Amino acid sequence: MHRKWQGRCEACGAWNALVEEVPLSAGPRPAPGRGRQIALSTLATDEPPPPRARSGMAELDRVLGGGLVPASAILVGGDPGIGKSTLLLQATAAFAGAGLDCLYVSGEEAAAQVRLRAQRLGLARAPVRLAAETGLRDILTTLDAERPDLVVIDSIQTMWLDSIESAPGSVAQLRAVAHELVTFAKRRGVSVVLVGHVTKDGQIAGPRVVEHMVDCVLYFEGERGHQFRILRAVKNRFGPADEIGVFEMTGQGLAEVANPSALFLSERGRPAPGSVVFAGIEGTRPMLTEIQALVAPSSLAMPRRTVLGLDSGRLSTVMAVLEARCGIGFAGQDVFLNVAGGMRVHEPAADLAVAAALLSARDDVALPPELVVFGEISLSGALRPVSQRENRLKEAGKLGFTAAMLPAGGRAAQGADTVPGVVLREQADLAGFVTAILGATGAG
Ligand SMILES: Nc1ncnc2c1ncn2[C@@H]1O[C@H](COP(=O)(O)OP(=O)(O)OP(=O)(O)O)[C@@H](O)[C@H]1O
Ligand SMILES: [Mg+2]
Repeated sequence: MHRKWQGRCEACGAWNALVEEVPLSAGPRPAPGRGRQIALSTLATDEPPPPRARSGMAELDRVLGGGLVPASAILVGGDPGIGKSTLLLQATAAFAGAGLDCLYVSGEEAAAQVRLRAQRLGLARAPVRLAAETGLRDILTTLDAERPDLVVIDSIQTMWLDSIESAPGSVAQLRAVAHELVTFAKRRGVSVVLVGHVTKDGQIAGPRVVEHMVDCVLYFEGERGHQFRILRAVKNRFGPADEIGVFEMTGQGLAEVANPSALFLSERGRPAPGSVVFAGIEGTRPMLTEIQALVAPSSLAMPRRTVLGLDSGRLSTVMAVLEARCGIGFAGQDVFLNVAGGMRVHEPAADLAVAAALLSARDDVALPPELVVFGEISLSGALRPVSQRENRLKEAGKLGFTAAMLPAGGRAAQGADTVPGVVLREQADLAGFVTAILGATGAG
């Protein structure tokens, strides 16, 4: 502990690593042993669960777990400029249209700027009340008097509490502001949405600090240069995590994408070497995405391994297993891997699609266009069945795919798969899969 500002940590020698901590309440401490006994209760209740408010934006409602739970605290994080304010202004207007009393507090933009955005989004007549303010004490007093159903705070980094001496956006301020707002939400039954910026390097000073305080953490993500935006629930106390909503950024704001598989595959032209369609699951929803690989001779001593949209550790693992179990190496070759459309895939079930893309790129032969691939590869070279096999196959069938390569086993207990029109080509291990893939490309 240091009583004054200090630039260098004496323990580890790092500069600017110390963070100011300010106690939330600096009152006198009660003497020990004087606590009052708490009345205990049971889990049973006759009260029905509170109704969720639906915005009517189906993608948003799904990510929230079926609508907004009253008195909940939600954090929406995202890179600068990704479209958080746009999303939340549209969401607020939608909730207001559904009958909620909504308030939008902007700490980043003047009221006129927010009005301008509302105009561009065609929401100028939405019954949303607006404030441009950064002082949290005034905001809390206003909220206490107005008691809206929903308030959006854009963003938490701009808010400041006068009892804390550090600057807005500092960890001490963030923590205190989030604590005050979340406590207010619970005590007064007002749902609070906090917007937070995430930076690639400065995550500690970002909204990560407040993630554990809120009920629900949503990330708004997308690649620059791509139209698609994905709202992902990474934590939800009232619904499944990992659920996603897909949007498209247009001049008139965010448009919902009801059938993302069709959209992500729409850019697919003629079958090309290295391109594979992966039948994935995002949350509760099946989603087909295209995984692309390129393998090219390298002039570097350390060949390049470039991955976009996937975990680079997974690529290394798949390549290592291919090498160790099947004798297929990539020494002296640059390997590039990419998920088309700016989508990000987190599932281990993508392993097999990655392997197929690598094989197809390495031999420079295209896979049949009607094929989807999914499955997990274990280090032993065995293929592991993945969850929701039938949902993946159904989505593939719906989009006109007629063949699937997947791990053997993992069939639903009722017996045969009921996906007419999709021929299953099951494999138990990676060696068999390699033979089947090379056979399918006509290279084996
Ligand atoms: N006139 C316009 N036409 C089309 N798209 C626009 C227009 N103005 C803004 N946009 C889109 O909106 C995006 C910015 O949205 P928004 O301000 O909601 O982002 P944000 O995440 O709130 O940013 P910040 O981090 O600055 O708060 C831009 O990236 C751009 O794609
Ligand atoms: Mg903004």
